[in-house]
Amino acid sequence: MTVTVAAPSPSWPEDVLRLNAVCPYYTMFPLDFPLQQLAARPEATRVLDPFCGRGTTLYAARLAGLPSVGIDINPVAAAIAEAKLIQVTPAAVVRLARQILNGGMRGQVPEGEFWQWCFERETLCELVTLREALLGMSTPTAAMLRAVMLGILHGPRNKNLPSYLSNQMPRTYASKPAYAVKFWTKREMEPVRIPALEVIERRAKRLLDAAPIARGGKVYLGDSVETLNGLRQKFDLVVTSPPYYGMRTYVADQWLRSWFLGGPPEVPYGTHGQIARQPNQEAFIQALAEVWAASARRCRKGARLAIRFGALPSARTDPEQMLLASVREAKAGWLVKEVRKAGTPPKRTRQAEQFGKAGSAIEEIDLVADLVGLAR
Ligand SMILES: C[S@@+](CC[C@H](N)C(=O)[O-])C[C@H]1O[C@@H](n2cnc3c(N)ncnc32)[C@H](O)[C@@H]1O
Repeated sequence: MTVTVAAPSPSWPEDVLRLNAVCPYYTMFPLDFPLQQLAARPEATRVLDPFCGRGTTLYAARLAGLPSVGIDINPVAAAIAEAKLIQVTPAAVVRLARQILNGGMRGQVPEGEFWQWCFERETLCELVTLREALLGMSTPTAAMLRAVMLGILHGPRNKNLPSYLSNQMPRTYASKPAYAVKFWTKREMEPVRIPALEVIERRAKRLLDAAPIARGGKVYLGDSVETLNGLRQKFDLVVTSPPYYGMRTYVADQWLRSWFLGGPPEVPYGTHGQIARQPNQEAFIQALAEVWAASARRCRKGARLAIRFGALPSARTDPEQMLLASVREAKAGWLVKEVRKAGTPPKRTRQAEQFGKAGSAIEEIDLVADLVGLAR
């Protein structure tokens, strides 16, 4: 399919968009936001997202036929986002998985009640073998297999063909071990054998059969300012969404996926480098300002910056004022053209989906600025 200008997602066949949903990520924004920004900027040639999360902006750029660069400090985000830039066949992904599994057991099986109840023993051995092998691989096929694995690691048990490797669990976040063990034991819900290769094969075909042509780009794992300072390319469109103010870190909720990427076999409570963990509002505004300034230094004059932002009601602050202050504070030549309410997106697609339970949806705002001056 040849596409020159991005259109909002309803005009795309559903199967072309599937790869974008390779793995859920808590704080994702809907594909329509970057698609609309791209449609409004048909002259754009290279797109940047300095807080790329699952890589929604990168996928929108791919649909629009453009290369893109994403940066994120969370290894789970970076691993999912990487898949958005890759072009491989489902057969190649399955071949690699089969080759790894046929190579015999590797790695150390984590011990303890959680692991005994979460995965059937043979399935766990396959999982550990795939994890161990993928830790040392950096080919595009390995990156795609890694993202597929993150997407099938945990989720609900269905009646028909299994889609996930774990015992009953939510798909969006991994339950904490003590809670999960209590849940399974109370219901006498023993894990069942799920052959990893079969699930990989079904998922890879579903995701990749109609994937659009990849247009190049790269995902960097790291702090956005540090990474931007080391880049050489120039961009003309930045579409991004920083962590919402007042939001707790979601790293702990992704602990099982973090383990698959080489993390410890327990819940990590660290918040290393996460902008969301600034001690106060001023520090948060300053941290955002530094990202807008670093982005400006990597942009051509006339470039556009589009930001979706929000704050938790409990943070008792005005997200619009905070965001405007951060752009002003950047002193980087960004001229604000428009600030408008983004409304409350549909439940499944909203960035702060984790607050659904509490019923405290936050209103999000979109800010658009153009680079009129030269960044210092
Ligand atoms: C709101 S999410 C972005 C979601 C993204 N738009 C998507 O659709 O998935 C914000 C992201 O910023 C990342 N982040 C927080 N602090 C960061 C930093 N200092 N450098 C780079 N990324 C950071 C978080 O890990 C998180 O993935």
